[in-house]
Amino acid sequence: MGLPYFQINGGNRLRGTVRISGAKNAALPIMAAALLCEGEVILRDVPLVADVTFLAELLRKLGMEVEWRPDGALRLVVRDEMNCKAEYDIVRKMRASICVLGPLLGRRHKAEVAMPGGCAIGDRPVDIHIRAMRLLGAEVELVGGDIIARAKKLRGAEMFLGGPFGSSVLGTANAIMAAVLAEGTTVIEMAACEPEVVDLANFLNQCGASIRGHGTPRITIEGVRALKGCEYRIIPDRIEAGTFMVAAAITNGEIELLNCRLDHLLAFVDRLNATGVQVERNAERVIVSSARRLEGIEVTTQPFPGMPTDLQAQIMALLCLADGNSIITEKIFPDRFLHVAELNRMGANLHRSGPTVIVQGVKRLIGAPVMASDLRASAALVLAGLAARGTTRVNRIYHIDRGYERIDEKLRALGAEIERKEGEEE
Ligand code: EPZ
Repeated sequence: MGLPYFQINGGNRLRGTVRISGAKNAALPIMAAALLCEGEVILRDVPLVADVTFLAELLRKLGMEVEWRPDGALRLVVRDEMNCKAEYDIVRKMRASICVLGPLLGRRHKAEVAMPGGCAIGDRPVDIHIRAMRLLGAEVELVGGDIIARAKKLRGAEMFLGGPFGSSVLGTANAIMAAVLAEGTTVIEMAACEPEVVDLANFLNQCGASIRGHGTPRITIEGVRALKGCEYRIIPDRIEAGTFMVAAAITNGEIELLNCRLDHLLAFVDRLNATGVQVERNAERVIVSSARRLEGIEVTTQPFPGMPTDLQAQIMALLCLADGNSIITEKIFPDRFLHVAELNRMGANLHRSGPTVIVQGVKRLIGAPVMASDLRASAALVLAGLAARGTTRVNRIYHIDRGYERIDEKLRALGAEIERKEGEEE
């Protein structure tokens, strides 16, 4: 027995069809939003990934019945509203646990959530979340490492939720979830426009909330008295789709994606096209192919609809093998570069300077043992391994299991030689 790792023999061109799973980052806040509902919530296309399991565990501790039905849907019903505390043992495993703050406060008028620490992608402050709760009328204090928020009654308010790096996705989600049951009107300026925020608002509206403007930087919420449950399908995972697009491109293959929303990936597809990758839509299918060496480009991550930070590591893996130089600038998490040193171990030529990485394209990558540091960095290392000559061992793949559903099986079905093994770390 040891830790699981992936062993990848690179060089195969990937071909075939893959179905993209539901979006992890949409499913997590929507599962938390079920805390606000009276009655049964049935969610379809929730990906079976470790982060979903962590949140289900937390929601159970908060008095919710959470079960997978035989048809694959997730059923959530609140049974007991006494506990308002999200303990550090789960929050430290998963930062996204912060998304219970808004619904607990909105529905139970009290929330105690352990303050999340930093993580491999850098500092992750929560000041925007706290600002939103205070503006809605909550008293918020930090005691013994816990954020404690209380409010007899929340009142709608106008708020600006911008931060030094733009809007905040989960900050906006928390503000919406706290405001839906508040008295009066809430207006959020500089709201995050990410599709996952839109999905949350659509879900809540289906439960009886009154939210307008989601998908734009100004969201307006009219408070309602109560929310019922509903049946809802989670949007496809745009980051998983982008990862498979890179898998096609980096292996000079051709992959057909089912359950893929190109309108959620316009900036990313624009960057792929600029390198020379072809992305075509054919009815419900998206076909990604690349037949020749790619060209170096500039990439800058931005809030939606810009190029997502969650695809920065993957496109870096691709650009390692493009002709000429590329420049990648990270404008959301300026320290999200732990994959740089690992890609260099595989023969890439990357130089980091602050929030920017200069990529000098190389002719080939060479398999090596590498260490996964966070979810998307791990995906980049797997992609590099698929293209590399020889064998790559990606250690610490529990990071990848947090957010990708059966990635090894899906890649194998496309012709990749990738095996999940267990052993001591090399
Ligand atoms: C969400 O995190 C995603 N997580 C992240 O995906 C994603 O990278 C990120 O949005 C950006 O798109 C989930 O949805 C579960 P933010 P979130 O608040 O909401 C700063 C993945 O790999 N900020 O939008 O926590 C922050 O430091 C994960 O699936 C503040 O300054 O990110 C960053 O620079 C990783 N104060 C910027 O805002 C705050 O209070 C955007 O972060 C909050 C954030």
